[in-house]
Amino acid sequence: MELPASIPTEVARADSQHGNSAHSGSKGGTVDIEIASKVFHTAFQPLPVLRDVSLTIHPGEFVCIVGGSGCGKTTLLRIVAGLETDFEGTVSLDGRRITGPSLDRGVVFQEHRLLPWLTVRDNVAFGKTGKNKRGKQESDRRSPASPEVSHYLALVGLSEFADAYPHQLSGGMSQRVAIARALAGRPEVLLLDEPFAALDALTRTRMQEELLHIWQAERTTVLLVTHDIEEAVFLADRIILMSSQPGTVRRIVNVGLARPRDRTNYDFAQVRKGVLEEFFTPPTPLTTAQGRSE
Ligand SMILES: Nc1ncnc2c1ncn2[C@@H]1O[C@H](COP(=O)(O)OP(=O)(O)OP(=O)(O)O)[C@@H](O)[C@H]1O
Ligand SMILES: [Mg+2]
Repeated sequence: MELPASIPTEVARADSQHGNSAHSGSKGGTVDIEIASKVFHTAFQPLPVLRDVSLTIHPGEFVCIVGGSGCGKTTLLRIVAGLETDFEGTVSLDGRRITGPSLDRGVVFQEHRLLPWLTVRDNVAFGKTGKNKRGKQESDRRSPASPEVSHYLALVGLSEFADAYPHQLSGGMSQRVAIARALAGRPEVLLLDEPFAALDALTRTRMQEELLHIWQAERTTVLLVTHDIEEAVFLADRIILMSSQPGTVRRIVNVGLARPRDRTNYDFAQVRKGVLEEFFTPPTPLTTAQGRSE
């Protein structure tokens, strides 16, 4: 099913009218996720974390994953990042199976993970090492003086802080550096795990708007994990609602609102209400042999 019942159909149709989903001419990649099962083998017992997660993310699409704590969102993102490879199933980018970290996927974690001894410019330039499309080990480390580094610093609005050190930045600024660093590798897919969770509400709102500008400028495919339903409705083309134990796709919501989105608008509130209701609706109760619900 594509939409909660409470979301008006005209909102759903707006998606195609406004062409807001995948960009035409996008440089983003297609992510195909087919995870039959992911189990962590702990000291006590096997812990099934993901089961039957099947999902295609289209080039240039902005997809948000929403789900309760512990339902496997980070694990799913780590699998797409290639940081977690022990699972049953396949995950591929543009038809190439993902077997490890690669330069074609940029990752932003909840905490910025900047190197404290490097300036902002050097952090963005630092880049990462991984396999390129031809499977060769490569580094996207670049000269701090390169125009690309300056471009991404400008894109996240931090040109004036290029020579600052991470301890001189606010939380929002640090996350913007982390986003610039991820983008500097010119990835086809940007993976973000609750990137704004540690920020205050105002900074968070501003960062969401900035992320949208960046996405519109860079036209990458984006997969973002969040706990915040309003954030997901504001950002996403599609919202993947996950249920837990083991984590699986509970429902996919096509947001279908024109951009720029207005959080105070009726249609926005309707979509948010629909997602919230779905989120807090308990799973269908089991029926006993006597026909009573438990
Ligand atoms: N390396 C690991 N070894 C064993 N268990 C793990 C490991 N990583 C995660 N888990 C377990 O897998 C489950 C899913 O974890 P995950 O971090 O993917 O959840 P999440 O949905 O991102 O949660 P949150 O919203 O709190 O970040 C949890 O029960 C967690 O304890
Ligand atoms: Mg997590």
